[in-house]
Amino acid sequence: MRAYGMTSKKPIYVTQPFVPPLEEFIPYLEEIWERKWLTNAGPFHQKLEKDLAEYLGVKHLALFTNGTLALITALQTLRITGEVITTPFSFVATAHSLLWNNIKPVFVDIDPVTLNLAPDQIESAITPQTTAILPVHCYGTPCDVERIQQIADTYGLKVIYDAAHAFAVRHKGESLLNQGDLSILSFHATKVFNTFEGGAIVCPDVKTKQRIDYLKNFGFADEVTVVAPGINGKMNEVQAAFGLLQLKHVDNLIARRRDIDACYRQALADLKGITCLEIPDDMESNFSYFPIMVDGNYPISRDALYQKLRDNGIFSRRYFYPLISDMPMYRGLPSAAASNLPVAKRVSKQVLCLPIYPALKREEVDMILRLIRG
Ligand SMILES: Cc1ncc(COP(=O)(O)O)c(C=O)c1O
Repeated sequence: MRAYGMTSKKPIYVTQPFVPPLEEFIPYLEEIWERKWLTNAGPFHQKLEKDLAEYLGVKHLALFTNGTLALITALQTLRITGEVITTPFSFVATAHSLLWNNIKPVFVDIDPVTLNLAPDQIESAITPQTTAILPVHCYGTPCDVERIQQIADTYGLKVIYDAAHAFAVRHKGESLLNQGDLSILSFHATKVFNTFEGGAIVCPDVKTKQRIDYLKNFGFADEVTVVAPGINGKMNEVQAAFGLLQLKHVDNLIARRRDIDACYRQALADLKGITCLEIPDDMESNFSYFPIMVDGNYPISRDALYQKLRDNGIFSRRYFYPLISDMPMYRGLPSAAASNLPVAKRVSKQVLCLPIYPALKREEVDMILRLIRG
């Protein structure tokens, strides 16, 4: 490790999952041990679906083992085929869910301010094979949901939001998760709300929820009737119990993230060459990530800053670099050409996500800021 006189003794990662005190979890485990109902829509699973729907302000929510299976199943739910328009600036699971459904991803560039799918460029990517749009609320920032819906309505397309980052995000006073036909969430250990691994599909009506419930349980509608080639996407009782306990803490966790966000934002506001991602006025954020853009006016490159932090025990992450469209399974697609995605290309070379998590201490934030401020 190089010496900057402020090296962290313990490594500081981009995130650290919140785990409640173990003694708070034991009573849940005792209940499971007593009941011996370990999975298949057990009481904790049922309660978490209900409590989460209420907390998030959505009609229905189906729990899953993880967000990726939720995405794959969301596409199956609406029988999406052919081509789907999506963003290259996301976690790989977004596009992988399309390949797992034998769907061709069509990449469209991102907006330079929100870093989400640029609505102006969606229409020219539509072909007779297009059946849906799969936008991502990247870092939880809302997509231009009105424009996207307008385009979808005009062309008869479905909209499935990858809302893996958007737990509890509100937009214009209501849950962002009510937008589009379906939204998916991830409850992975790295997320604002975690169940170790986990995820969900948010849907607007009982009929769709029923279909999702069949699909996540091998397609079983009853003991002897299989209505679809479903998968095993069921969340188990230990995960669901952990989710119920997390839910008791989540408001405090988001508040702590808000404080850290404010600290970073204030300290970096006047720093030449560093830009923080804007939080729009009409959004209530969950402060899940703290991305900065490092441009040519900063004394060193993004990668050099990443390395400098690393040398000092701080493991920031270049989310999202490389772009999905540059990965071997996608780069041959015509829409993956660099000339089609200039903004995403630039952003993926400039972005750096700084550590943000509830247990991150003020002095650790200050140390990270001193290193960045140089
Ligand atoms: C944008 C996005 N989509 C999908 C996923 C997949 O979720 P999971 O890890 O729960 O499968 C993630 C992250 O993990 C993600 O960041």
